[in-house]
Amino acid sequence: MKVGLESLGVAVPPAYIELALLAEARGVAPGKYVEGLGVTRMAVPPLDEDTVTLAVRAGRMALEAAGCSPDDVGMLVVGTETAVDHSKPVASFVQGLLGISTRCRVFETKHACYGGTAALLLAADWVRAGSAKGKRALVICSDIARYGLNTPGEPTQGAGAVALLVSDQPKLLALDADTGVYAKDVMDFWRPLYSKDAVVDGHYSVTCYLDALEGAYRAYQESAGDADGKPYSDRFAALVYHVPYGKMSRKAHRHLRTLDGDAEPDESFDRLVGASLTLPRQVGNLYTGSMYLALASLLTTSTEPLANRRIGLFSYGSGSCAELYSGVVAPEAQARVKALNLEALLERRRALTVAEYEETMRAREGIDERPADESPGEGVRYLGTRDHRRLYAR
Ligand code: CAA
Repeated sequence: MKVGLESLGVAVPPAYIELALLAEARGVAPGKYVEGLGVTRMAVPPLDEDTVTLAVRAGRMALEAAGCSPDDVGMLVVGTETAVDHSKPVASFVQGLLGISTRCRVFETKHACYGGTAALLLAADWVRAGSAKGKRALVICSDIARYGLNTPGEPTQGAGAVALLVSDQPKLLALDADTGVYAKDVMDFWRPLYSKDAVVDGHYSVTCYLDALEGAYRAYQESAGDADGKPYSDRFAALVYHVPYGKMSRKAHRHLRTLDGDAEPDESFDRLVGASLTLPRQVGNLYTGSMYLALASLLTTSTEPLANRRIGLFSYGSGSCAELYSGVVAPEAQARVKALNLEALLERRRALTVAEYEETMRAREGIDERPADESPGEGVRYLGTRDHRRLYAR
């Protein structure tokens, strides 16, 4: 049985900041953020946006793209590291707002940026095992990445959600059974219970990411077998890496090709990785959704025909757990994802000044206790709280 992605959906906040402007305000050469980190624009969520609202919009897009009724979802999982409650999962709010049936497993997964991948691969096994009985799994990766003002991590923030509909009709990507996993207890990036901002040992986190890539890649090779004497990664028509910022994908690719014995590891970068960075470069880090926005970017912007070709995907979650897995692109996948008009979605956003961005960041610190404001507005919105309950407008 083929199992994989039937459709996907993407949501990003309606505003962003140009990183060249932020660099100037921080007294840093713009080249450091734009070329050095490989990010041009960073998504900034307004006060009525949270992990739930992003997840709902992405989820709705994925359901509509597949023509799938909310009643046909038998498992709804939100992978996130920026949940809105210690007990009630983001997925329960999403279930209510999307009108998903009561006959559905609903829960949240957490392992930093790997949380969505954990959910996706579990969902794929649920379908493979026959437990889905014709139903689909809706896996949504949703996060708001926040390090705080004037920190080294500041230019690597962002926000957004990517929803993945998983079924036995993989019209985008049929997942292979082969995967390579690597997990190690490290303190590279975390967020203590008392903090809204992540804590990170930045340069160490890059080392941990690359170590995990190496471990997962070796494990994948053991699972998938040898590659006829060619550089191993040439079995992939494209490689999609977890992308906290664009430059990290370049570092990852250089490391992976060096492991392959490639003396010119950068030469294959544009061919194998370039198209996956077009959208992430304009949004910043989505944490759990980052690698899946990179996948959407590949399918939207690649000029290569990818139909029936295998691609590799590398997911990394700090702390840490990583997995390298692969899948075969479906014949109609590129046309289907192009039809979502994701580039236009990004173009419709509003540019913020540095002052507006800073004001939003400061105001967001109190949003979990903010009294509900029920004045009229459009779309799904977080209104604030009343009697310790979060309220949403549909
Ligand atoms: N023009 C062009 N490039 C320039 C430049 C200029 N004027 N000035 C500096 N640069 C380059 C530097 O050479 C460097 O490039 P290389 O990495 O290729 O050497 C790059 O800009 C960044 O410079 P620094 O390393 O000096 O930057 P920094 O010390 O301020 O911190 C960072 C960079 C560690 C990534 C920091 O932003 C951070 O901590 N980010 C959050 C952590 C993170 O994203 N980690 C990624 C791995 S963990 C993970 O993936 C999970 C997750 O999602 C968090």
